[in-house]
Formats: sequence, C-alpha cells, structure tokens
Amino acid sequence: MRVDYTPATPVTVSPDVDLKPEDVADGWFPLARRWLADAVSAGAPEPNAIVLGTVDEHGHPATRTVLCKGIDADGVTFFTNYGSDKARHLDAVPYASATFVWLPLHRQLGIRGQVTRIPAEETETYWRTRPRGSQLGAWASHQSQPVASRADLDHALVEAGERFGVDDIPVPPFWGGFRISPEFVEFWQGRPNRMHNRVRSRLVDGRWHTQRLQP
Ligand SMILES: Cc1cc2nc3c(=O)[nH]c(=O)nc-3n(C[C@H](O)[C@H](O)[C@H](O)COP(=O)(O)O)c2cc1C
Repeated sequence: MRVDYTPATPVTVSPDVDLKPEDVADGWFPLARRWLADAVSAGAPEPNAIVLGTVDEHGHPATRTVLCKGIDADGVTFFTNYGSDKARHLDAVPYASATFVWLPLHRQLGIRGQVTRIPAEETETYWRTRPRGSQLGAWASHQSQPVASRADLDHALVEAGERFGVDDIPVPPFWGGFRISPEFVEFWQGRPNRMHNRVRSRLVDGRWHTQRLQP
C-alpha cells in the first residue's frame, strides 16, 4: 500500500500543490475554510470529521473521531457528552489537537490549542438544528459508560421518546459544545517522492509566526 502523491488526483477539485507560507499571510482561517470547501466539492467522505486528541490527568493520550460543527477565526467547535471520557480529559487538561484528513486531496490540517466549553446559548442554537432522533439519542446515552446489552440501549431510546412525546426536546444538561482556540496550525499537502509541503503557524505573544517545515 503505497500512494504516490502526484498532483493528478481522481477528484473534481485539483488541489493547489504549491502550498507556501504566504498562503496564510491573512491568518490560518481563510485557507482552512478553502481546504474544507475543496474537500466538500471533491466528495471526500465525512469532510468535517476530525481526529480529536486529548490527554488524561496522567498525561496519557487518547484519540477519537468527532464532527467539526463550526470553524472560524476563533477556532474549531464540536459537540459531545460532557460526561464522556473526552470531556473528563478536557476538564483535567483543557488542551486538544484536531486533525482533518482529506485523503482524496492528499491534504491534512492539524490544529492544537486551549479548549473551552462554548456558551449554553450556542449549544442551544446548534441543538435546534439536530434531527429529533439525534436529540433523543443524546438523552439516551451516558456516553463512555458501560452498558449491559444492546437491548438496554434500545430501551433507553424508547424511554427518552416516551418521556418527551411530541414536545420540543431540551438540551440535556450533560451535553454541549467545546471550542479549540488554535495556537498551532499546520497545513500539509502531499507531493511526489515524499517531499511534501508543510506550512506551520504558531501563535507567540499574540502574533502568528509562519514557517515552512521539512516533510
Ligand atoms: C465519523 C464519526 C463521527 C463522530 N462524531 C462524533 C461527534 O460529533 N461527537 C461525539 O461525541 N462522538 C462522535 N463520534 C464518536 C466518537 O468517535 C467516540 O466514540 C465517542 O465520542 C466517545 O469518545 P470518548 O469515550 O473518548 O469520549 C463519531 C465517530 C465517528 C466515526
């Protein structure tokens, strides 16, 4: 299994392989937004999926996939259960990495930074856009806790449905969003012969510093 990252890719978007530090002269966000849009246009699977890295109170890392539900100059937002393992990690060590991997475009975007819970009103706004089934699922799952059987899970969903009937479903008090405020951002574009392009921006004393890195 060896892919040669030649510019000619079988996708509808032809990636700009000449990634260079000047491409983030206006900050990391405009390029990040363009790359995400390119991934959507190219039909990349789950283009807003990020691999989220956290560390627990012992410094042990864990990663899992979540969906990025907001990205702007302030950072990357995702939603989850505030009692989950990842949330416990973030309560202990409020710092995370998020990696977008857009394989059809031979691109990767990595972000690292401080993590905060977003305001309840922002969570509420997003919650209202979720399908009813997903809202019930959030109520029914004590994410990351053991469960005796599949039947118990299915029963919890039915119970949640009976509890709310046809009423509006409120945001569970144990569910909401987190935002990663970037301090490190790295754009990676695959090139032939493993001589890829990497551009990294770091926030130092309130100013972004950008460098090209060796592949
Ligand atoms: C494509 C994909 C998208 C996912 N999106 C989310 C998400 O947005 N929020 C979430 O809590 N879990 C999501 N999950 C499940 C997580 O990967 C993970 O199993 C769950 O959040 C529990 O993680 P934890 O025990 O480390 O807290 C997603 C999984 C996949 C494969």
